[in-house]
Amino acid sequence: MLSKLSEIKDRAEKILQEADSMEKLNELRVKTLGRKGEITVLLRTLKDLSPEIKAQMGQAANQFKMQLEEMINQKSEELKQEQLQQRLNAEKIDVTLPGMPFMRGSKHPLTRVSEEIRDVFIGMGFNVAEGPEIELDYYNFEALNMPRNHPARDMQDTFYINDDVVVRTHTSPVQVRTMEKMSPHLPIRIIVPGKVYRKDDDATHSPMFQQVEGLVLDERITLADLKGTLMNFAREIFEADLKVRFRPSYFPFTEPSAEMDISCVNCRGVGCRVCSHTGWLEILGAGMVNPRVLEYGGYDPEKVTGFAFGMGIERIAMLKYGINDLRLFFDNDRRFLQQF
Ligand code: DAH
Repeated sequence: MLSKLSEIKDRAEKILQEADSMEKLNELRVKTLGRKGEITVLLRTLKDLSPEIKAQMGQAANQFKMQLEEMINQKSEELKQEQLQQRLNAEKIDVTLPGMPFMRGSKHPLTRVSEEIRDVFIGMGFNVAEGPEIELDYYNFEALNMPRNHPARDMQDTFYINDDVVVRTHTSPVQVRTMEKMSPHLPIRIIVPGKVYRKDDDATHSPMFQQVEGLVLDERITLADLKGTLMNFAREIFEADLKVRFRPSYFPFTEPSAEMDISCVNCRGVGCRVCSHTGWLEILGAGMVNPRVLEYGGYDPEKVTGFAFGMGIERIAMLKYGINDLRLFFDNDRRFLQQF
C-alpha cells in the first residue's frame, strides 16, 4: 500500500512539474483527488485493513492528499500569473497611458506682430499694398530721390543683381509704385509689409528682415497728421500711456524727416540697458513726402502733400516681447517659438 502511495506521489509530482496549462492541472486533480481518483480509491480500500495499519496508512494518505492539494493550488496560481503576464506582454494597449501629445503649431512672433501692426493701421483706414522683392534700382533708389552716387545709398548695404536690379533694401519703393498706379486718385492710405535684404549680419541685423512702410497722400496733409497717426499706432502696439518724441533726421525721400522714439518699454523712461540709459527707444523713420518723390509718382507737389514712414518688424517684436537677440527669430527652435 505504501509503495502504491509513493507511486501515485511520484507520478503526480512529475505531472505537476510538467503541467503547462490549467487543463492538465484539472486532469491531475480529477485523476488523483476526484471522486474516483487514485487517492480516493486508495483511501476507500483502507476499511478492510486492521485498525493500526488503517490509522497509519490513513494518516499518510491524508497527509499526501493535503500536500498534493496545496501543490496543485500553488501551481495553478503560478500558471494564472504566467498567463496574465503573457497577455500583458502581447496586448500592447495600456489604457492608463497618457495619450500621445498632439503637436500644435503657433504663429511665428513676427507674423503675430506684423498682423497686429496691420490691424492697427487698417483700423485707421489704411489699405495693404505689396511690391516685388527683386526690385529695379529705379524704384529702390532713383525715384526715392537717391540718384546714382548719392551718398545716402551707402546707408543701405545693397545686394546688386546687376547695374539696374537689386534685392530691395527697404519697402519704400512700393511708395512710388503705388503712386504710379493710383495717380491722380486721392487719397492714398497704404501700409506695405514685406521682406527686405541688406548685407548685415549680427545680433541686431539679419541679411533678411521685415519692414512696414506707410504712405498717406491727400490735399492738406500736414506734419500734425503724421504725428497723430504714428502716436496712435505706438500706443496701440505698446502701452496706452506711452510717450513719444520726434527728432529731426534725414532721408532723401522725405522733407522734413524725423525719427520717432517711444519711452522705453522696459524702464518706462527712467533709463536702463535696453534704452542705453536714455529712457528712449527709436522705432521708426518718417517724414513729409519729398516733392521730388511726388513728381516721380505722378502727383503735383503744389496740390498734394503727404507723409511716409518705415519701421522694422523685428525691432518692434524685440521691444514688445523683450527679446535681445534677433537671430532667435530665425533659428526655428520650438522652445522659443512655443512661447508666443
Ligand atoms: N526706408 C527707410 C529705411 O529703410 C525707412 C523710412 C524712413 C521709410 C522714413 C520712410 C520714411 O517711408 O519716411 O531705412
